Formats: sequence, C-alpha cells, structure tokens
Amino acid sequence: MQVDVDAALAFAVDTARAAGDVILQHDGLRPLAQRGRAARMKGPRDPVTDADLASERLIVGRLRERFPGTAIVAEEETHDRAGAGLTWYVDPLDGTVNFSQAHPFFAVSIALYRGDEPLVGVVHAPRLRETFAARAGGGATLNGEALAVSGVTQLSEALLGTGFAYRRNELADDNVGHFADFILRVRDLRRGGSAALDLAYVAAGRLDGFWEPHLHSWDVAAGALLVREAGGLVTDMAGGPGWLSGPTILAAPAALHAAMAVVLAGGAR
Ligand code: IPD
Ligand code: CA
Ligand code: CA
Repeated sequence: MQVDVDAALAFAVDTARAAGDVILQHDGLRPLAQRGRAARMKGPRDPVTDADLASERLIVGRLRERFPGTAIVAEEETHDRAGAGLTWYVDPLDGTVNFSQAHPFFAVSIALYRGDEPLVGVVHAPRLRETFAARAGGGATLNGEALAVSGVTQLSEALLGTGFAYRRNELADDNVGHFADFILRVRDLRRGGSAALDLAYVAAGRLDGFWEPHLHSWDVAAGALLVREAGGLVTDMAGGPGWLSGPTILAAPAALHAAMAVVLAGGAR
C-alpha cells in the first residue's frame, strides 16, 4: 500500500493535538484523587483513566476513517497484528501516573511504520503545548523548529533519562542496578515518567541520552524516529536493532551511546 508520508505526518500532528485537547478536558491543576476521579488500576502501580480511553478512541476512530485497512497497535483497546505492511503505533496517553497526579509531563504518541521502518513520528505534550514531529529523512521539529541531539560525548557531562516498569518487582532486570551504575558517573539522572517524551527530549538535546529495559512498541515508536532524525543513534540496550519490538531501548548521540552501552554491559564497574 502506498502512502503520502507528508500528508500522513500532517494528519498525525492534527490527530495528536485533537487527542491532547480531549486529555486536557479531563485534566486539572489538582490530582484526580482530590477531584473524586481516581484512576482504575490495571496492576499494582499501573493506572488507566477515562482520558487514556477517550484519547485512544478519538485517535483510532480518525486513523480507521482516513487509513482503512492499515493496522493499529495501541496500548489500551486496539491490537491489530503488525506485519510487513503499514502499522500505526499509538500510546494515547504516555505518562498516566503523571497525568493522574496533575504533573504536566505526559504526552500523546503516534507513529507510522512500514514493517520495522519508521515513516512518521509525533509526540505531543498538551499541557506543555509542545509538539515534536519527524518524518523519515525529513528531520525532527518542535513546534515547527528544527531539533538536534546534544553534543555531549562524556558521561560526566551527561544528563540522562530512564524509567522503571510497573512490574519491576517481578522482573530480573528491574533497572535498579543500571541506575546505580549511572548515577555515580553522570552529571545527573531524571525519571521523567513518559518514555515517549523522554525520547523527544533526547531529540531536543534537553536530555543527553535515555535507556529503559521494559517498554512496548507504542511507548517508543514515535520517539525513536525523533531521536534518529535529530542525529542520534537508537538501538536496543545490547546495541542491536530490536528496539521496536522491545523490551529495551538505548538512545543518545553516537559517542555518548557507546559510553552508555559499556556501562549497561557491566563493563565500567
Ligand atoms: C509508562 C511511561 C513510563 C515508563 C513505563 C511506561 P504509560 O507508560 O512511559 O515512563 O517508565 O515503562 O509503561 O503507562 O504511562 O503509558
Ligand atoms: Ca506508555
Ligand atoms: Ca499509555
């Protein structure tokens, strides 16, 4: 199936902004619990809110209408099979814990792929009014301005981002060891709470690098293209190409990526 990639990017930007407006209708300056609108828990730490569902329904409805027959893999309710053809990856609200707490670091993430190859990626942070967008071979932008990854090459000068899975207590690689390995070597670390926005921040040079061991395709699909198009390198945590199907990702400018890979491999102790 042929696709007009520029038109698909424009449509993804419009759709992410429309979904952001839906999320803002549910948002407030006080946490959901203080407004009598507590989230439903999918797991011990894993909330889903009316905003996640309303955002996904809006996005999926728009994509199905405009791109009938294209697969959609979204976090909450829509799980078509991704094949070698075109697939939309959608995280309708990345950073649900932040959103529930009225913390503004959350985003809508929409990406279009052909097989494993990214074509279009959009990460839109509605409360922050920032839209990060990229098209394969066309560079990455923030509210229309070109982005570039940072020039930092040394761990000692780097501000890194990471995250921890909801099910971390059950997982062999809970990321606590990697966190400890990095915190003693880098300028500082952030656990932002939205992997999509963390990757967008790497694309913008606001973070120098990012890694996380347990993510899904919808968390990383858009952000990974942003980093690539801003001049960064994206691999899985072992340096391989498997970052889309997950579960691990490592994203940074090339020299810093190499230094981070050594630490993640346990070679810098
Ligand atoms: C989560 C966020 C978080 C990351 C978790 C994700 P959600 O996504 O991206 O930063 O550490 O692993 O599950 O549940 O807020 O869409
Ligand atoms: Ca997510
Ligand atoms: Ca989500």
